This record gives sequence, structure tokens and C-alpha cells, in this order.
Amino acid sequence: MSDRPAPESHPAQAPAWVRHAKLRDWVDKMARLAKPERVVWCDGSQAEYDRLCEGLVAAGSLVKLSETLRPGSYLARSHPSDVARMEDRTFICSARREDAGPTNNWIEPAEMRATLARLFDGCMRGRTLYVVPFSMGPIGSPIAQIGVEISDSAYVVVNMKLMTRMGRAVLEHLGADGAFVPCVHSVGAPLVDSFGARRADLAWPCNEKEKWIVHFPESREIWSYGSGYGGNALLGKKCLALRIASVMARDEGWLAEHMLILGVESPQGEKHYVSAAFPSACGKTNFAMLIPPAAFAGWKVTTIGEDIAWIKPGADGRLYALNPEAGLFGVAPGTSEATNPNAMQTLRRNVIFTNVAMTPEGDVWWEEMTKEAPARLIDWQGNDWTPGCGRAAAHPNARFTVAASQCPSMDERWEDPQGVPISAFIFGGRRSSTVPLVVEARSWEEGVYMGATLGSETTAAITGKVGVVRRDPMAMLAFCGYHMGDYFAHWLKMGKAVARPPRIFRVNWFRKDASGKFIWPGYAENMRVLQWIVERCRGSAQGVETLLGVIPRYEDLSWSGMEKFERGRFEEITRVDEKLWGEELKSHDELFRKLAGRLPQALETRRGRMHQKLAA
Ligand code: GTP
Ligand code: SPV
Ligand code: MN
Repeated sequence: MSDRPAPESHPAQAPAWVRHAKLRDWVDKMARLAKPERVVWCDGSQAEYDRLCEGLVAAGSLVKLSETLRPGSYLARSHPSDVARMEDRTFICSARREDAGPTNNWIEPAEMRATLARLFDGCMRGRTLYVVPFSMGPIGSPIAQIGVEISDSAYVVVNMKLMTRMGRAVLEHLGADGAFVPCVHSVGAPLVDSFGARRADLAWPCNEKEKWIVHFPESREIWSYGSGYGGNALLGKKCLALRIASVMARDEGWLAEHMLILGVESPQGEKHYVSAAFPSACGKTNFAMLIPPAAFAGWKVTTIGEDIAWIKPGADGRLYALNPEAGLFGVAPGTSEATNPNAMQTLRRNVIFTNVAMTPEGDVWWEEMTKEAPARLIDWQGNDWTPGCGRAAAHPNARFTVAASQCPSMDERWEDPQGVPISAFIFGGRRSSTVPLVVEARSWEEGVYMGATLGSETTAAITGKVGVVRRDPMAMLAFCGYHMGDYFAHWLKMGKAVARPPRIFRVNWFRKDASGKFIWPGYAENMRVLQWIVERCRGSAQGVETLLGVIPRYEDLSWSGMEKFERGRFEEITRVDEKLWGEELKSHDELFRKLAGRLPQALETRRGRMHQKLAA
């Protein structure tokens, strides 16, 4: 049956502006495999975006929000089985298992290709195949990469329009034979079966039985099946800009990292850029958009990126970072005027919300958006909700998609094709104990050890158990497209490849007291730590040496406007407890054992020295 070319399986002609013969051939081939009803080449125009959103509203996939309260904005409610990235369904199919390493799922490439050929055969029957050309990084930047995503989801297309530079301009730049990363995506829910019987569409189509997010690092291909959500479906983000890009970066001598990039300017006009890696839902967006507290008159923080950084050596011996994305796909719950006014401002209009709650007036709401919850809501699954009903109104991994250009804190250089020079790298995670508020590495190598052994309590951005500490090296556990030991070696090498590598710091906003409350107020007050970091880079701030590195004393931070925070509380969150660090080291041992064989000797030596110091 599948051999007989159904009339609808003939792909539409590519428009005249598609001059790339290989791209046309690839799209043809994919259309013959997936058998969509029609093929649409996306031009990336606003008219196309509006038309697709209208269609999604008509189909019940998007709800148009109030034009007065939330102009130009929509709400999507996902299927309850499709609410986050799925790490256990994510695969790195390198030719050899050992190149994917023990921290990635691996399947032999030929076997995986056979599975994909089966899954994709006819998977778009009755649907439209959209061709979405996109650039990660400003079009034409020497750091940028072009991808082309094929998807049967209009929701994906409109999200890609906000998240990337998308459409005709990208293909014009690609020309007749430029290189692109092919990205294939299907929700895995055909509307017509192989006998020609049609079924009604769902508001959020996906495949409840099977989800696959597959990468072939050597041929630089991405295939995703069964999910329509975020990083599983918007393939420019985690799949291309991290998993595939990390492999390119290893081969070409740069870094692709799960990092925000921000600028800090002092009242004297001295400006530094820093880049920080925190695991998913650990505060990158908040930190990237920080507004300094009132006492920091004249200090200014600006945003370059809030999730991904591509970092390359510059001619002046420094590392330069570029945000490859054009939009934000941020966590909604917890975002408020108190915690992130810049984000709230960004979200006033032209937003696609996914899995937040809706007010009777047609606006959105999520946990902690306001002190008091509205009296009545429609929750993220479309059911009536009242405060105290015992359920969350928004899914804890509910997100917003919005163009970064709408964010008031964007740095004037955020689209600089060369990137911005980085003074410091920061690693952070959620740790209710053990890890101090901030510590500076005394060398690049010590900093790489800090990043490599980063641990964090898991969040709702990851499916599975929430709140358990796991090792998440450089916040890249789920995003490194090759062996983690080789990745550490690459980091060590990059420190030597430039004359002036950034300083490296570890931070932790999440220490809790005996009653389970956060000790550090966090958010805007993180400016105090950021100030210490940039002043360390200038060589003007003080600290003391500890087992872990250099830690500020109470008097080394600025407390103006936060005098109520007692010295004792500060000491509680900066103390290095040797007993807890003994336990912590055991967990480093476990990670290192897993990577044995490819773990750089320098990190192994450092671990041994930590053990000796603790024993002394
Ligand atoms: P991804 O987009 O998933 O990669 O994550 P992200 O790191 O950008 O996450 P985001 O900034 O959206 O993190 C949101 C979560 O971090 C919310 O639960 C916030 O309340 C919490 N958060 C952010 N900053 C702080 C802080 O300084 N202190 C505390 N206690 N929580 C914070
Ligand atoms: C993350 O989980 O780190 C995200 C969201 O940034 S997603 O794009 O869905 O991976
Ligand atoms: Mn992320």
C-alpha cells in the first residue's frame, strides 16, 4: 500500500527563491517518505505567521488571548504526556558507542535509521509538511549556522519564527550550495491511515506511545518523532545549537554551551560580559535580565542571551560569545514583577504561551505571577480551577515563546555578529546545602573541575523525579553530543588556546535553612555577587582562600540596601563544611569512575588532591 504513490504524496513545487538543488532533493525525498498532503515552504513573513496562528486557532490548537490585555498573544495546551524534554528518549547515534559516552543514550546508527525509516513512513499523511529554513546566529555572522527543519506542526513553525531568524532571507544567504543541518520533525500522528481513512485532529497532536529525539553527530543530522514540545520539536535549540554544535565546536576549536550571556556596567562606565551555565529551570533567564537593587545606582545589567552561548577565540586572545537564538523559551511559573520585571515587560504582547492558566478575561496566569491567585481560572489542561483546589494552575514547566527584541534589557551588541568578549564564566545549580554562595577558581583547570563536577537538584524541566541531586557537568548533561570525558578535555584545551581566558566562578543561590526556606534572597540581590565577580576580574575585590577556591568574606561584598541580612546568615551560606564535602567528593568519584578511560588526567589529579586535603 505504501508503495503506491497516493495523489496527495506529490510534493508541491519549491518556490523560485529556493535555488539550492540539494535542499530541494532532500525535501522531495522526505516528502515521499512521510507522505504529507501538501508541502509549504515558509518565507518567514509576518503575514505567514498571522495566517498560521489563525489556522491554529480555528483548529483549536491555540486560544487567542484578549487583544486588550495580551495583544497579539496565544495560549497552547499540550497533551499531558508531552510537557518537557525527554532525556530518556534522546539519542546520540555516533558510529561508535564510546564516542557518545556513558552519559548519552546510544543506538547503532544503521539500526536507528531503520527504525526512523519505519516511523517516518507515512507519518505525515493528511498533514502539511512545512519547510522551515533558519539561522542560528544573525544571518551571515561568521559564527552562525544554518538549519532547515521539516515539520508537520504549524505550532512548531510559529515558534521557530520567534526563536530563530527564519524564512526566505536564510535561503537567500545559503545560496545554491551552502551547508545546512537537516532537521526532520513529526508529531507522529497522521490524520489519514494507510488505508485512506481520515480521523479528526487533536488540539495537541503527538504520539503517546513513542517519542524519539535522535542525533547523528558525524553526518550532522537531527530526527525527532512523536513530541511537539519545546526542545524536542524546535530543533534549532537544544538539538542543533547544543548537541550538534558541541560536536562542531570540538572539531573546530570553539564552545557551544548551555549558558546565558550578560553585560555589567559600573557607574564608572567599565563594562564586562560574563557567561553563566545553570541547569534547566535554575535561573538563567532571571540572572540574564537582572535589574540591580536601588542601592546600586549607576550599575547596569544588559542581556545578550538567556539559554545558549556559542563561544569562539578572538584575535585579541579573548573568548567571544554569541547568542545563537532570536527568542526566549522561558519558564513561566515564578516569573513576576518582583522576580523579573524585564521578562514581564517582554511578555506584554506577541507571545505564545504553552501550558499556563487562563483568566476568565482571556489573560494568562501562573503560580507566583501575583501574590494572590485569581478567584477562577482555566488550568493548563483546560479544566476549571479555583485557589485551594489542590492542583497547580500552570504546569511547572509551562513556558513562553517571545522575540528577544521585545526584552527591554537587551544589550546594544546582542546581535553583534562577532559576539562579545567574556571576562568570566559562572557555573551554578540548585543545592540546598554544601555549595557556597560563590567561589572563584584559582586557575582555569580548577574552574574546569568546578564545572565538570557541577551538581543540581532536578527540576520540572526534566521529566522524572524532581529535587534529587544529580551531576550535571557544565549544565550540559543532556546536551553534550559526544563523550563527556572528551568534552572536559576540550574545555581544558580551550583555556590554553587563548592568551586571556575568562576567570571561572561557582555560584549557588539555593541554600536552604533548617525550615526549608531559601537563605539567600536571590534575584536582584544576586547583583552583589555579580559585582564581586566583575571586581575580581578587574583585580580590585578581596576574598579568602579555602579548600574550594577564593570565597568573599562578609566585608568583601557590598551590603548597602541589604543591611538586615546578618553576617551570621552570610557565613552560613559561605562556610565550607568538610564533612559535607567528604560526601560531595564521593559523588565526584562516581561521575569520574563512569568516565574512566577518557577522563583527563588533570581532573583526576585534582580530585585526588581534594581527597588528600580533606583527609589532612
Ligand atoms: P531553562 O530555560 O530551562 O534552560 O532554564 P533557566 O535557567 O533559564 O530557568 P529560569 O531562569 O526560567 O528559572 C526559573 C526558576 O528559577 C524559577 O523557579 C525561579 O523562581 C528560580 N530562580 C531564579 N533565580 C532565582 C534566585 O535567585 N533564587 C531562587 N531561590 N530561585 C531563583
Ligand atoms: C531546557 O530544558 O533547558 C530548556 C527548555 O531550555 S527546552 O527548550 O524545552 O529544552
Ligand atoms: Mn535551557
